Amino acid sequence: MIYYFSGTGNTKFVADFLADRLGDEVVSMNTLIKEKKMIDDRSRTPVIFAAPIYAWRYPLVVENLIKKAKINRNKNVYFIATCESQYGKTDIYLKKIAESISVNYMGFAALYMPNNYLFGGKISTPEQTEQILTEALPKLEKIAKRIQNNKKFCDKDNTPAAFLMSGAINTAMYKFMVSSKNFKVSDQCISCGKCEKICPMNNIKLVKGQPVFGENCTWCFGCITRCPKKAIDIKGKTEGKRRNVCPDYKAWMIKRNM
Ligand SMILES: Cc1cc2nc3c(=O)[nH]c(=O)nc-3n(C[C@H](O)[C@H](O)[C@H](O)COP(=O)(O)O)c2cc1C
Repeated sequence: MIYYFSGTGNTKFVADFLADRLGDEVVSMNTLIKEKKMIDDRSRTPVIFAAPIYAWRYPLVVENLIKKAKINRNKNVYFIATCESQYGKTDIYLKKIAESISVNYMGFAALYMPNNYLFGGKISTPEQTEQILTEALPKLEKIAKRIQNNKKFCDKDNTPAAFLMSGAINTAMYKFMVSSKNFKVSDQCISCGKCEKICPMNNIKLVKGQPVFGENCTWCFGCITRCPKKAIDIKGKTEGKRRNVCPDYKAWMIKRNM
């Protein structure tokens, strides 16, 4: 069973690829979190978790969901992350979580994906997205083969700063930065309600047709990136910036006759 969390589509692409190669099913952790449901897995296939890297770790909401997961049958658990460039010591944190829920940690693998991160350098153009996804395919194939052959993943970041990034810097980001208090809505808003519907944290409510943000944002940036009118911005940060949502895996493959 493949459990994925995705704000801007990269990790969903990876999860759908693996489901296709492994003949397995996907479960959206966005939906589980939104509906306040737990993971109670009874599948025969290994459990695969896939999530983006947020500040050199899995997103806090995803770590918290996995910490409460019940994995009842196949205890082999793989962890995959999508990121722009750095994942720090994510593997160490995930190994500890795996131990705490008494499953077999089958390792960590990272994939470099198109840049959709509004605070992280230049957002990928459609051409760059195309190139990066094409370059990711060989590693995705290898990941699928390792799972099929019951082999562990072994990606590691051995740079000295990695501990600091996944530790103190990660904590500081959640404490001082992660919030929707500077999100603003322009008069381009058409009250379609897409933002409210997709927010995994139930942090958006439409009031008189306009999105109002609560205090439970996790910075997946799904609302900003997927708004059909680019009507949501972070004050002073995202105005005029390109938005990039990763293409749907199946549509992408069909377009390439793959
Ligand atoms: C809040 C936040 C923090 C991020 N931190 C990192 C990071 O530390 N390292 C990195 O390489 N990418 C980082 N990124 C980029 C994402 O990991 C990357 O775009 C990921 O593939 C997004 O997955 P998604 O499209 O499935 O949401 C960050 C993105 C967000 C939204």
